[in-house]
Amino acid sequence: MSYQNPPTPPRKSATFDDYTLAEIRRAAATGIYDIRGGGTKRKVPHFDDLLFLGASISRYPLEGYRERCDTSVTLGTRFARKPIQLKIPITIAGMSFGSLSANAKEALGRGATLSGTSTTTGDGGMTEEERGHSNILVYQYLPSRYGMNPRDLRRADAIEVVVGQGAKPGGGGMLLGQKISDRVAEMRTLPKGIDQRSACRHPDWTGPDDLEIKILELREITDWEKPIYVKVGGARPYYDTALAVKAGADVVVLDGMQGGTAATQDVFIEHVGQPTLACIRPAVRALQDLGMHRKVQLIVSGGIRSGADVAKALALGADAVSIGTAALVAIGDNDPKWEDEYRKLGTTAGAYDDWHEGKDPAGITTQDPALMARLDPVAAGRRLANYLKVMTLEAQTIARACGHNHVHNLEPEDLCALTIEAAAMAGVPLAGTDWIPGKSGF
Ligand SMILES: Cc1cc2nc3c(=O)[nH]c(=O)nc-3n(C[C@H](O)[C@H](O)[C@H](O)COP(=O)(O)O)c2cc1C
Repeated sequence: MSYQNPPTPPRKSATFDDYTLAEIRRAAATGIYDIRGGGTKRKVPHFDDLLFLGASISRYPLEGYRERCDTSVTLGTRFARKPIQLKIPITIAGMSFGSLSANAKEALGRGATLSGTSTTTGDGGMTEEERGHSNILVYQYLPSRYGMNPRDLRRADAIEVVVGQGAKPGGGGMLLGQKISDRVAEMRTLPKGIDQRSACRHPDWTGPDDLEIKILELREITDWEKPIYVKVGGARPYYDTALAVKAGADVVVLDGMQGGTAATQDVFIEHVGQPTLACIRPAVRALQDLGMHRKVQLIVSGGIRSGADVAKALALGADAVSIGTAALVAIGDNDPKWEDEYRKLGTTAGAYDDWHEGKDPAGITTQDPALMARLDPVAAGRRLANYLKVMTLEAQTIARACGHNHVHNLEPEDLCALTIEAAAMAGVPLAGTDWIPGKSGF
């Protein structure tokens, strides 16, 4: 008599889940790796794993309608003759013209200006639209040097030397041929319609000493006026922050793994770099160890969505935050009103990430003139300003509830963590305990 297993319900593997199986089949059919935009899609420890304690008998809250809670921030107080004054501690991150349409860049500039904050160029140079509509514009100096020109360095209000990005520390970006229009090609002095890969490292430096020389060069070109930022991806935040300070940075921009990108390999986005939450405390510790906390400002980015996220980053020691993806959503990215068109592209609103293909129905990650025309930069700029206002009000609400008259007075003692992982990464106690795992480390 042969033995037969009793029937059991079909059971799928957690390791080989449907998505993984589909990816294996896609790779087997095409021999091409997956490229996409955005940040990591899997769940990693994040600001949601932290909570504010709020005021109690030992802390006295401030009254929302009568007592002031400031949000201003000054960036570049270390060496620059003209530091940047922002009304809110939220800036718009560098996003390239090429990956984004000229209208999208203009909308970001308009929204930032209405809100009293800065926006940032990106790979591919400075467009007239964004310079014209951005009261405070940070100019990126990138490994690729696409669109780099000394005149624009002088037309900027600050300079950001990009060493890396959180979505792809150690890697460069991609701009596929579909998006290389005449204008994009001309600004990058590269041929039209041909895929471009941005360099992963600066051509003229091999280490931190060269960064120091580069910063001095940039200071001389700009007459020591402009703050010089150094942007790093969240890889080794303690040492990268310390080295950026040593090289003479006025501001360190630290971008964690949730940070968005215009286009790179999915494997890069999902498997390289550390979560934003894990990067902040080591960077702050580096600044503290060098006696530079609050003297060299720290801007944190990577997955910032709400005023609560802003307040948590500031409480952990950042001076400001920067947003990319959320700003794009505010101006219209992945809007369900384009659902029919997302369906035709094989996706759905909220999941659309083939930004490299240049077919964005919302007119944001495209160079197609017809699609681009769908984005009204004036209305989109207003939406961004509304969103920035809400985030600022939320951060103020939390700061007041914790008894602070400036959002910068938020501190780690205002926080607890919901998970052991978050407690260890953020260096705050696990909720209901006074236990900070790994306190002897960073
Ligand atoms: C469409 C897009 C284009 C980007 N282009 C650049 C760039 O040219 N240079 C750069 O340093 N970072 C670039 N980034 C990364 C952002 O500057 C920033 O680090 C990141 O978006 C922050 O994370 P968030 O998107 O979760 O807010 C880009 C991001 C996006 C979404």
